[in-house]
Amino acid sequence: MTSLELSGISKRYGAKSVLADVSHRFEPGLTLLTGPSGAGKSTLLRLIGTAEKPGKGVISWDGAALPGGRAALRRTLGYAPQAVELPEDLTAREFALHIAALKGLDAKAADTQFGAITDAIGLHADINNRIASFSGGMRRRLVFAQALLGQPRLLALDEPTAELDRETARKLGTLILQRASEAIVVMTTHLADELAPHATAVLRVENGALVRTA
Ligand SMILES: Nc1ncnc2c1ncn2[C@@H]1O[C@H](COP(=O)(O)OP(=O)(O)OP(=O)(O)O)[C@@H](O)[C@H]1O
Ligand SMILES: [Mg+2]
Repeated sequence: MTSLELSGISKRYGAKSVLADVSHRFEPGLTLLTGPSGAGKSTLLRLIGTAEKPGKGVISWDGAALPGGRAALRRTLGYAPQAVELPEDLTAREFALHIAALKGLDAKAADTQFGAITDAIGLHADINNRIASFSGGMRRRLVFAQALLGQPRLLALDEPTAELDRETARKLGTLILQRASEAIVVMTTHLADELAPHATAVLRVENGALVRTA
């Protein structure tokens, strides 16, 4: 049974405390993370995505505490950071295949899956173009698409629908809910999101704490 648990997690940057003694067990399904700008939503996702380590506390994946459980978590992680530098000279498809290789996925299957995902979110016509030519919304969708490769059991999405029009955001929402039917999906969102009624939990990050609001 898939499980992700945070126990007594604290994170500070220099003198600034961002998360203080946060504990939460994430259930399969969609968990939305809301909260004001600078509250620590991205910080929490970076910890879950193992891009950073907590100062204190323990993260456990499938019952195995990190760092011991880190390799198992990474094998099945899909992570779409809020801000990321993309390799401008690659085409979207080359980039996706590069990520697939890092994830240890079969190239042909990943190529097929990338085609299907980008088709569903209106990016397919551009996958053989260089990323350098991509708009903000296209980049956002590309980062989203690579995160979905390989049917991750843990999907961490940081503002995946920012910069997207409502109709495109809905298309991403459909894929997010599909994955949430069998995975733990943790997604940050700035605004009250249309996905909220479908979420397993809605959490607010504020003043270093994680508060369940729905
Ligand atoms: N690498 C870092 N070094 C120093 N401070 C940092 C670093 N990363 C984040 N912070 C600080 O931690 C706090 C939380 O930042 P974080 O990016 O997690 O917020 P957020 O809730 O995702 O905000 P937003 O809604 O604007 O995306 C902010 O005060 C930020 O300045
Ligand atoms: Mg953020």
